[in-house]
Amino acid sequence: MADLIQRDEPILVTGAAGFIGRWVVGELLDRGQAVLPVDNLMTGAAANLEEFEGREGYTPLVVGDIRDAGACQAWVSQVDAVAHPENDLSLVPELRVLARVIDNVLRGRRREAAEDR
Ligand SMILES: NC(=O)c1ccc[n+]([C@@H]2O[C@H](COP(=O)([O-])OP(=O)(O)OC[C@H]3O[C@@H](n4cnc5c(N)ncnc54)[C@H](O)[C@@H]3O)[C@@H](O)[C@H]2O)c1
Repeated sequence: MADLIQRDEPILVTGAAGFIGRWVVGELLDRGQAVLPVDNLMTGAAANLEEFEGREGYTPLVVGDIRDAGACQAWVSQVDAVAHPENDLSLVPELRVLARVIDNVLRGRRREAAEDR
Protein backbone atom coordinates (compact mmCIF):
# COMPACT_ATOMS: atom_id res chain seq x y z
CA MET A 1 0.00 0.00 0.00
CA ALA A 2 2.83 2.41 0.89
CA ASP A 3 4.05 2.39 -2.73
CA LEU A 4 0.59 3.05 -4.16
CA ILE A 5 -0.34 6.06 -2.03
CA GLN A 6 1.06 9.58 -2.31
CA ARG A 7 1.87 10.70 1.24
CA ASP A 8 0.97 14.33 0.65
CA GLU A 9 -2.47 13.28 -0.64
CA PRO A 10 -4.55 12.62 2.49
CA ILE A 11 -6.12 9.34 3.50
CA LEU A 12 -9.73 9.75 4.62
CA VAL A 13 -10.14 8.05 8.03
CA THR A 14 -13.79 7.45 8.92
CA GLY A 15 -14.73 7.04 12.57
CA ALA A 16 -11.48 8.88 13.31
CA ALA A 17 -12.56 10.07 16.77
CA GLY A 18 -13.24 6.52 17.97
CA PHE A 19 -10.91 4.13 19.77
CA ILE A 20 -9.49 2.40 16.70
CA GLY A 21 -9.88 5.42 14.38
CA ARG A 22 -7.74 7.56 16.68
CA TRP A 23 -5.03 4.90 16.62
CA VAL A 24 -5.17 4.70 12.81
CA VAL A 25 -4.83 8.50 12.54
CA GLY A 26 -1.77 8.48 14.84
CA GLU A 27 -0.14 5.57 13.01
CA LEU A 28 -0.62 7.22 9.60
CA LEU A 29 0.78 10.57 10.82
CA ASP A 30 3.78 8.77 12.35
CA ARG A 31 4.44 7.29 8.89
CA GLY A 32 4.40 10.76 7.33
CA GLN A 33 0.99 10.29 5.77
CA ALA A 34 -1.47 13.20 5.47
CA VAL A 35 -4.86 12.44 7.03
CA LEU A 36 -8.42 13.74 6.67
CA PRO A 37 -10.30 12.58 9.80
CA VAL A 38 -14.12 12.34 9.70
CA ASP A 39 -16.51 11.33 12.48
CA ASN A 40 -20.16 11.99 13.36
CA LEU A 41 -19.26 11.89 17.10
CA MET A 42 -22.01 9.35 17.77
CA THR A 43 -19.76 7.43 20.16
CA GLY A 44 -16.40 9.08 19.51
CA ALA A 45 -15.10 12.35 20.98
CA ALA A 46 -13.28 15.22 19.29
CA ALA A 47 -10.97 15.31 22.34
CA ASN A 48 -9.50 11.96 21.20
CA LEU A 49 -7.83 13.80 18.33
CA GLU A 50 -6.63 16.92 20.16
CA GLU A 51 -3.11 15.56 20.51
CA PHE A 52 -2.73 15.64 16.70
CA GLU A 53 -3.61 19.33 16.28
CA GLY A 54 -0.75 21.12 14.54
CA ARG A 55 0.99 17.93 13.38
CA GLU A 56 2.21 18.03 9.80
CA GLY A 57 -0.31 16.34 7.51
CA TYR A 58 -3.17 16.59 10.01
CA THR A 59 -6.41 18.26 8.91
CA PRO A 60 -8.68 19.22 11.85
CA LEU A 61 -11.57 16.79 12.44
CA VAL A 62 -14.46 17.12 10.02
CA VAL A 63 -17.73 16.36 11.82
CA GLY A 64 -19.94 14.51 9.37
CA ASP A 65 -21.72 11.26 8.63
CA ILE A 66 -20.68 8.61 6.11
CA ARG A 67 -24.39 8.05 5.31
CA ASP A 68 -24.40 11.51 3.72
CA ALA A 69 -23.59 10.83 0.05
CA GLY A 70 -22.91 14.50 -0.74
CA ALA A 71 -20.43 14.81 2.11
CA CYS A 72 -18.76 11.51 1.14
CA GLN A 73 -18.42 12.83 -2.41
CA ALA A 74 -16.66 15.97 -1.15
CA TRP A 75 -14.28 14.01 1.12
CA VAL A 76 -13.44 11.20 -1.28
CA SER A 77 -12.67 13.63 -4.10
CA GLN A 78 -9.95 15.22 -1.89
CA VAL A 79 -8.13 12.03 -0.91
CA ASP A 80 -6.00 9.28 -2.35
CA ALA A 81 -7.36 6.43 -0.21
CA VAL A 82 -9.96 5.62 2.44
CA ALA A 83 -9.47 3.85 5.79
CA HIS A 84 -12.73 2.70 7.36
CA PRO A 85 -11.98 1.28 10.82
CA GLU A 86 -15.59 1.11 12.09
CA ASN A 87 -16.27 -2.06 10.10
CA ASP A 88 -19.17 -3.23 12.25
CA LEU A 89 -21.60 -5.44 10.30
CA SER A 90 -24.44 -3.24 11.58
CA LEU A 91 -22.86 -0.41 9.56
CA VAL A 92 -23.14 -2.22 6.20
CA PRO A 93 -25.86 0.15 4.87
CA GLU A 94 -23.62 3.09 5.72
CA LEU A 95 -20.73 1.41 3.94
CA ARG A 96 -22.87 1.04 0.82
CA VAL A 97 -23.16 4.82 0.49
CA LEU A 98 -19.42 5.33 0.99
CA ALA A 99 -18.54 2.45 -1.35
CA ARG A 100 -20.81 3.81 -4.10
CA VAL A 101 -19.21 7.25 -3.81
CA ILE A 102 -15.70 5.77 -3.95
CA ASP A 103 -16.70 3.76 -7.02
CA ASN A 104 -18.10 6.87 -8.77
CA VAL A 105 -15.03 8.96 -7.96
CA LEU A 106 -12.69 6.22 -9.24
CA ARG A 107 -14.71 5.86 -12.45
CA GLY A 108 -14.49 9.64 -12.96
CA ARG A 109 -10.72 9.62 -12.40
CA ARG A 110 -10.29 6.73 -14.84
CA ARG A 111 -12.35 8.61 -17.45
CA GLU A 112 -10.25 11.76 -16.95
CA ALA A 113 -7.01 9.74 -17.21
CA ALA A 114 -8.25 8.10 -20.44
CA GLU A 115 -9.18 11.51 -21.90
CA ASP A 116 -5.72 12.88 -21.04
CA ARG A 117 -4.02 10.06 -22.96
N1 LIG B 1 -12.10 -1.39 20.33
C1 LIG B 1 -11.66 -2.62 20.16
O1 LIG B 1 -10.84 -3.15 20.92
C2 LIG B 1 -12.13 -3.44 18.97
C3 LIG B 1 -11.58 -4.72 18.76
C4 LIG B 1 -11.98 -5.45 17.64
C5 LIG B 1 -12.93 -4.93 16.76
N2 LIG B 1 -13.47 -3.70 17.01
C6 LIG B 1 -14.43 -3.19 16.04
O2 LIG B 1 -13.85 -2.05 15.41
C7 LIG B 1 -14.85 -1.08 15.15
C8 LIG B 1 -14.51 0.24 15.82
O3 LIG B 1 -14.39 0.04 17.23
P1 LIG B 1 -14.06 1.25 18.20
O4 LIG B 1 -13.77 0.65 19.54
O5 LIG B 1 -13.03 2.12 17.57
O6 LIG B 1 -15.49 1.96 18.24
P2 LIG B 1 -15.77 3.48 18.56
O7 LIG B 1 -17.23 3.59 18.84
O8 LIG B 1 -14.79 4.00 19.53
O9 LIG B 1 -15.44 4.15 17.14
C9 LIG B 1 -16.34 4.19 16.05
C10 LIG B 1 -16.33 5.62 15.57
O10 LIG B 1 -17.15 5.72 14.40
C11 LIG B 1 -17.94 6.89 14.52
N3 LIG B 1 -19.11 6.65 13.66
C12 LIG B 1 -20.09 5.74 13.83
N4 LIG B 1 -20.99 5.84 12.84
C13 LIG B 1 -20.55 6.82 12.02
C14 LIG B 1 -21.06 7.39 10.82
N5 LIG B 1 -22.21 6.98 10.29
N6 LIG B 1 -20.37 8.40 10.23
C15 LIG B 1 -19.21 8.86 10.79
N7 LIG B 1 -18.68 8.34 11.92
C16 LIG B 1 -19.35 7.33 12.53
C17 LIG B 1 -18.26 7.01 15.99
O11 LIG B 1 -18.64 8.31 16.41
C18 LIG B 1 -16.93 6.59 16.62
O12 LIG B 1 -16.05 7.68 16.79
C19 LIG B 1 -16.16 -1.67 15.68
O13 LIG B 1 -16.80 -2.30 14.58
C20 LIG B 1 -15.72 -2.71 16.68
O14 LIG B 1 -16.68 -3.73 16.78
C21 LIG B 1 -13.08 -2.95 18.08
